[in-house]
Amino acid sequence: MTSVHITASRSYDVRIERGLLDRVGDAIREVCGESKVVLVTDDTVRALYASRVLESLARAGISAELFSVSPGEGAKSLSVYARLLSFLSEQHMTRTDVLAALGGGVVGDLTGFAAATFQRGIRFVQIPTTLLADVDSSVGGKTAVNLPSGKNQVGCFYQPHLVLCDPDALNTLPQAQYLCGCAEVMKYGVLGSAEFFRSLRQTPVSDQIEDVIATCVRMKSEIVQSDEFDRGQRQLLNLGHSFGHAVEACSGFSVLHGQAVAIGMAIIARAGAKRGVCSAETAGEILAALEQYHLPTSTEFSADELFSAIFTDKKLTGKTMHLVVPEEIGRCRILPVPVEDVRGWIADGLS
Ligand code: NAD
Ligand code: GLY
Repeated sequence: MTSVHITASRSYDVRIERGLLDRVGDAIREVCGESKVVLVTDDTVRALYASRVLESLARAGISAELFSVSPGEGAKSLSVYARLLSFLSEQHMTRTDVLAALGGGVVGDLTGFAAATFQRGIRFVQIPTTLLADVDSSVGGKTAVNLPSGKNQVGCFYQPHLVLCDPDALNTLPQAQYLCGCAEVMKYGVLGSAEFFRSLRQTPVSDQIEDVIATCVRMKSEIVQSDEFDRGQRQLLNLGHSFGHAVEACSGFSVLHGQAVAIGMAIIARAGAKRGVCSAETAGEILAALEQYHLPTSTEFSADELFSAIFTDKKLTGKTMHLVVPEEIGRCRILPVPVEDVRGWIADGLS
């Protein structure tokens, strides 16, 4: 078992352990005592894992109710959020009870926002079941739902009380979703550790899964600890995301998040090399690593289409956009770029 301690506005442990889904009850009891639990999941994850988690809660003497949503980004909506709050109210949940999210980033973001806002904040446990959620969304306290005008437009920072990662849950993850998680894993290598990046090229993520999750969580925790509320350094975690979100939006979300992040990383690496921020060799290494993990590195959308899509991105602050650009493997720079220059960066990065 590996445990990573996070120190932020709330301190908590991220436990990484094979078979942990069968021990969720004891783990929650240890941290939250004799609380009642509402377990939030989606219909796919419910069919796979909910009964194991519910049985574990029952063995620990914790009473639990289940709330399940349809799989997919659509569940991060104001209407599903409102249904969840009503359910919590019907179950007479109080601030000493626990809301637990069993699933990927969608379930985690929705549940976290409900936990942050129901009765001004009830206890919250993340039980991630996708690689992306293990290494990114379950840690750091960003919670949100979407508006028709854009992703994550309504949300807040609310750290969980506990994160329980069972790498065995990834065995059932569709390959495409697994590879999306690998794009986020690669992101950590590019922005923070050449040694980690090289290890990902030498040994498949699946052969070192516990270490990979622990390394990513440690790297994310360092960034979150230094800038919990996303005013500076935390923007590094957006490597590949600004242009990636544009690709996702242009595709009507048919391009998966991690695939879009891979394309976004490829665009910024090529543009960074053309503009002298990194070498062509560095950009080439990033592209080769993405391709090694069967991730896309190009898009059919034009620079104009992607540029228009970015205007709905909340990261556009004033007249400057902050681009995260690789300088070398293991180091990135946050570059303020005037909005009128962003289209040129995209055009430089497309091929
Ligand atoms: P997701 O939650 O939609 O899960 C992907 C799919 O995999 C779903 O269909 C789900 O039912 C299925 N699934 C989940 N676990 C499974 C398992 N073990 N076996 C089989 N199928 C399984 O997607 P995601 O990629 O985990 O998360 C994406 C979301 O996370 C986006 O909404 C994004 O905005 C958000 N996000 C949040 C943060 C943050 O810091 N809060 C960071 C990154 C991404
Ligand atoms: N996933 C980006 C962040 O947590 O800041």
